[in-house]
Amino acid sequence: MVATHLDTESMHEHVVVRRGVRSGLPIVVAVHSTALGQAIGGCRLAHYPHWRDGLTDALRLSAAMSDKCALAGLPNGGGKTVVALPPGRTLDAAARRAVLHDAGDVIAGLEGTYATGPDVGTGPDDMVTIAERTPQAFCRPVQAGGSGDSSVHTAVGVLAALHALCAERFGSADLSARSFAVLGLGRVGGHVLRMLADVGATLVAADIDKGRRTLAVTVGAAWASPQDCLTADVDVLVPAALGGLLTPHTVPTLRCAAIAGPANNQLDAPATADLLHQHGILWAPDIIVSAGGIIHATAVELHHETSAQAAARVRGIADTLTDILRTARATGSTPAAAARSRARQRIEHGRR
Ligand code: PHE
Repeated sequence: MVATHLDTESMHEHVVVRRGVRSGLPIVVAVHSTALGQAIGGCRLAHYPHWRDGLTDALRLSAAMSDKCALAGLPNGGGKTVVALPPGRTLDAAARRAVLHDAGDVIAGLEGTYATGPDVGTGPDDMVTIAERTPQAFCRPVQAGGSGDSSVHTAVGVLAALHALCAERFGSADLSARSFAVLGLGRVGGHVLRMLADVGATLVAADIDKGRRTLAVTVGAAWASPQDCLTADVDVLVPAALGGLLTPHTVPTLRCAAIAGPANNQLDAPATADLLHQHGILWAPDIIVSAGGIIHATAVELHHETSAQAAARVRGIADTLTDILRTARATGSTPAAAARSRARQRIEHGRR
């Protein structure tokens, strides 16, 4: 029988799709949940075959942000902005300003239910541009009154998660004894690679942008193609590029023992978590691993904490992950299922 009930429990509260009046480009702002407080989630500026693919991505990413905030213990819900660029389209400075102002207007229209931040394709300077239309933008540069680039804090959170993951999987949190394959050397992936090099880990790295080879070589990492990096024979795979990397097609080719990285939505579908489990690969849920940026930004900008206090919160990702991994082990479920059920509990509790 075909399931016909409408799953309104998990449906989005508010989704806006608008053709930008200045730019003519499609802008999607998805507010998934405000049950715990204002929805937050970054502004992604990326290429999509069709704007509908950008809409699909925004719906998935914003729902994941609700769980990310809940697991991080933040009084916030999840949202996301996606600006869908047609394949091959580049933006000059004026076009970029136009589309960011368009996005800012849509966010302003949401009247404080949602605030944005940097994401794939945007950074602190773009938040200044958005802030010309709405105050709801995190991570403007420090000199512009914000908490600055969040990517280093996200990377610190990833390192904390890697400690917890290695302790659980290999019985020791010592990263210097381990090998890692870092896939994606963008803002966050680049920091993660450098931090792992600093602690003396064995590294292989890849990026679709061959220009990033210099960074890999400089820190002593072996350079590989993205395909070889994905299937490298290492202790831990660190996905730090776009999502959808772990699929029924790729999982059987993996040779790592564990996976933890900052990329959002690493699984193509929830069932892929079960497949990883069957293959004996311990997967740290991305919604926990990638929360450092948002934890730091909200601690500093909303709760006016010092950067030392915020940094301590970011390192708390290790405890959250340890707790979820142990719960999963004790209950015979996957970390993904344990994380999702913990997030749902918190959101339900907040709703009541
Ligand atoms: N890209 C960030 C994430 O996915 C979004 C963000 C960072 C939002 C910092 C606000 C502040 O978590």
